[in-house]
Amino acid sequence: MRLLIMGPPGAGKGSQAELIAKHYSIPHISTGDMFRKAISEKTPTGLLAKSYIDKGELVPDQVTTELVRGRLKEADARDGFLLDGFPRTIAQAGMLEEILQEEGIKIDLVINLVVEDDTLIRRISGRRICKTCGRTYHVDTKRPAKEGECDHCGGELFQRADDNEETVRNRLAVYYRETEPLLECYQAKGLLKNIDGEGSIEAIFEEVKAVLGGI
Ligand code: AP5
Ligand code: MG
Repeated sequence: MRLLIMGPPGAGKGSQAELIAKHYSIPHISTGDMFRKAISEKTPTGLLAKSYIDKGELVPDQVTTELVRGRLKEADARDGFLLDGFPRTIAQAGMLEEILQEEGIKIDLVINLVVEDDTLIRRISGRRICKTCGRTYHVDTKRPAKEGECDHCGGELFQRADDNEETVRNRLAVYYRETEPLLECYQAKGLLKNIDGEGSIEAIFEEVKAVLGGI
C-alpha cells in the first residue's frame, strides 16, 4: 500500500499516520520529522531546514525531494509507505511523480484530512512531542499518564519551536497558497479521499480504515 496523507498544519496527519503505519505495517515517512531529526543532529540539511521551519516557510523543493528520494529507496519502503507532509508544492508533486516512475510504482490513495482553522490552532497550541521517540500528545485531548513524560518511552515532552502563534499563522497561509492547490490534481487523478478530521482520533482512524479497506 502506497499512500499520501495530506491536510493543513495540525490536521492530525502525524496522529493518523502513526496508527495507519502500525495497522498496515508500512513505514511512516514524515518530512517534518526527518527535518526535526536532522536539526537535532545538527547536520548541514538540518541547519538549512531550521532557517525555513522557524519562520513557517517551506524548505526548498530540491532539498526536500532528495531527502524523500533517498528514504523511498530504503528496504522497508520497497513494498509500501505512507508519506506525511510531502508533496507540499506542485513542483514536489512533479518530482515525486518522476521518482515513482523511475521505480515503476504508483500511489494508491491520497487521504486528505479536512479540519477548520479554529480547530487547527487549538490542536497546535496544545501539542506536546516526545524528545526521544517523537510521539505526539495534547494538553487537553491526549494527555500522557504522567505529566511531561512520554507513555511509550518515558522521554521528556516539549513544544515544537514552530508551534507559536506567529509561525502557525504563516504555516497556514503557506499551506493554503502552496499545498491546497495540489488536492485538485489528486482529485483529477481519482486518488483523493476527503475525510472529516474533526472527530476523535479513534473515530477518524475507523473512517480511514473503511476507506483503505476498499483498495
Ligand atoms: P510538519 O512537521 O509536516 O508540520 P505540519 O504540516 O505543519 O503539520 P503538523 O505536524 O503541525 O500537524 P499534523 O497534521 O501532523 O497534526 P498532529 O497529528 O501532530 O512540517 C513542519 C515544517 O517542516 C513545515 O512548516 C516546513 O517548514 C517543513 N517541511 C515539512 N515537509 C516539507 C515539505 N514537503 N516541503 C518543504 N518543507 C517541508 O496533531 C496536532 C495536535 O492535535 C496533536 O497534539 C494531536 O494530539 C492533536 N490531535 C490530532 N488529531 C486530533 C483529533 N482528531 N482530535 C483531537 N486532537 C487531535
Ligand atoms: Mg505532523
